[in-house]
Amino acid sequence: MLTESCDEDESCWRDLADVMSAGISRVLLYGPSGTGKTYAALHHGVGASPAERLVCTEDLTSGEITGTWMPVGENRWEWREGPAIRAWRGSGGLGGRLVVDEVDRASGDALSTLLAMTDSPESARWRNPETSEWVRPGPQFSVVITTNIDDLDDIPPSLRDRFPVCIRVDRPHVSALASLSDDLRAPALAGSLGPASRRVSLRSFYAFDELRRHLGAARAAQLVFGHDVAASVLDSLAIASLT
Ligand SMILES: Nc1ncnc2c1ncn2[C@@H]1O[C@H](COP(=O)(O)OP(=O)(O)OP(=O)(O)O)[C@@H](O)[C@H]1O
Ligand SMILES: [Mg+2]
Repeated sequence: MLTESCDEDESCWRDLADVMSAGISRVLLYGPSGTGKTYAALHHGVGASPAERLVCTEDLTSGEITGTWMPVGENRWEWREGPAIRAWRGSGGLGGRLVVDEVDRASGDALSTLLAMTDSPESARWRNPETSEWVRPGPQFSVVITTNIDDLDDIPPSLRDRFPVCIRVDRPHVSALASLSDDLRAPALAGSLGPASRRVSLRSFYAFDELRRHLGAARAAQLVFGHDVAASVLDSLAIASLT
């Protein structure tokens, strides 16, 4: 789990914690892969009901956001509300968390629907086609959207405008590093801070940590990191073991 305390170097995580505790309900997290954006979006400041998650692709449809008609028997159809409406409602109508991953990939109808679902609370409303009920986001509704793109100008301006707070997440959270074995924490942090061409994601270190228990460090490093990076990871582990 995330802890609220971050050290001085972790300004992105401190920014997120501060923004969330200040009650900001719309945040965009961007930056390199595998730093924990989705994990934070799913867990940080989430209330009673579990977060709802959407992963955008070019093929995402409006129905996957707000809901679709589903067959429930012969000639009978029911409307099944989608993740955005479920998050609007949350537990007991209070509103929950909606996480929208890879948001730069949404386009067309799906993007228009996302704009409607993330609109300001005063304007947002949606009508259930089966019951004709008007639904509005509950008071605790919040949205965190994530993307790997580094240039926010690549996000459609209308979507960007709905997310006044954008935080570049450039390093793993201490809790993410803490779930690695002790000797891997420093190399994993260093790997995630390297230049884009040499960056090694946290996910690779998780895989290495698991695999080396079965196959030994040398083989696991080859399999996970490839030849060049394996050598430098094994070197840094060997040096660390001497100190
Ligand atoms: N605070 C944390 N505690 C424990 N594990 C974590 C934490 N943060 C991230 N992780 C783990 O690290 C991995 C990468 O995290 P996540 O998927 O959130 O990264 P991401 O920044 O969203 O990556 P991408 O940009 O590729 O979608 C996952 O296996 C996740 O479970
Ligand atoms: Mg993610």
